[in-house]
Formats: sequence, structure tokens, C-alpha cells
Amino acid sequence: MLLVALSVLFLLHVEQSHASVIVVYNGGPWGPWGTMEMCPEGTKAAGFKLKVEREQGRGDDSALNGISLSCVNTTTFLTVKEITSSVGPEGDWTDIQWCPGSYLQAFCLRVEGRQDKGDDTAANNIKFRCTNGIELEGEGMYWGSWGDWSDSCSSGIDGILTRLEEDMGNEDDTELNDAQFHCADEVRKKY
Ligand SMILES: *[C@@H]1O[C@H](CO)[C@@H](O)[C@H](O)[C@H]1NC(C)=O
Repeated sequence: MLLVALSVLFLLHVEQSHASVIVVYNGGPWGPWGTMEMCPEGTKAAGFKLKVEREQGRGDDSALNGISLSCVNTTTFLTVKEITSSVGPEGDWTDIQWCPGSYLQAFCLRVEGRQDKGDDTAANNIKFRCTNGIELEGEGMYWGSWGDWSDSCSSGIDGILTRLEEDMGNEDDTELNDAQFHCADEVRKKY
């Protein structure tokens, strides 16, 4: 009896620790993926800010360079840590945008397709939906078009992974290309 109970608990644990990550399919193709960075235990992401290079005129545009998540204590809602995955060197951080009394849950990316001989920027902006249904549009750039929404993390996001094209020197820089987020639990629902 005890053995059966332990086996069930073990299986439940395996089920729960199965990594659950939300993705989109319109990200840019350049550069390596960084590492998944996680919110500390007992926290989830309730806000985000973007590192954005504004229009360079005749210079090389890279647009979105980084995404930072604000991990808040799920009891007090106070910020415990800000986390990022790979971040590019260009641009400045925007103000934090918050899910009021809730957590980030799903996202979509605004991505510019390949420009051939033109100036590539890849990912330009991101939208998040909160667990209370509110949508937040980042203060990124306007090139390209919005893709489909990711699946939803039913109880919120607690990790970030970004794909970044390293600095190309004088060549065409795109910086942030794609992103994925870790779900705080394994229960996902289709948007
Ligand atoms: C969250 O806040 C509670 C209440 O103040 C505290 O006991 C707990 O340690 C905090 N957790 C984290 C991860 O900061």
C-alpha cells in the first residue's frame, strides 16, 4: 500500500517537473539561444521591461535587444528579482509594465522578416497577456508584423530564454530574435 502511494507520488512529481515552455513560431533565425533563467522559488513574473534601440536613421537598426522579467513574491507581490536571458548591448531599458494584481501568462512577438540586402532587425516588440486577461504591449519598435499568440501558462510565467545574434561589428546587427518562457506549473491551456 505504502509502495503504491509512493509510486503515485513519484509519478505525479515526474509529471509536474516536466518542463513546460511556451513558444511562438515567427521568431527570427539568427544567433544562438541563451540559457533559461528562472525566477527564484516562490516568485513569478508580474512585469516586464524591454531594451530597445530606437531608429538609427541611416545607421544599422537592431530594435529589440533584451527582455527583463520582474519576479514578485506570490504572497506580498513585492519584486524579489529581475531576470534576463541573453541581452544585446544596444538601446535603453523602458519602464516596467505590470500585470495589475496578476502574472504574465502568454506572449506574441512582432518580427520583421529577412531584408536580404536591407537592414535586418528581427524581433521588434512583444505583447504579454496577464492571468487576469489584460494585454500589455511593450514599448518596442514598429517594423514587421505581429505573429500568433503562444499557448498560455495557466498560473503564470517564471522563466525566460532568449535567442540573440551577437554583435556583428560593422555588419548588420539584429540582436534579439526569438524568446520562450517557462510556465510556473505544467497545466497549459490553448489560447
Ligand atoms: C515572500 O514573502 C513572505 C512574507 O513576507 C516571506 O515569508 C517569504 O520568505 C517571501 N518569499 C520570497 C521568495 O521572497
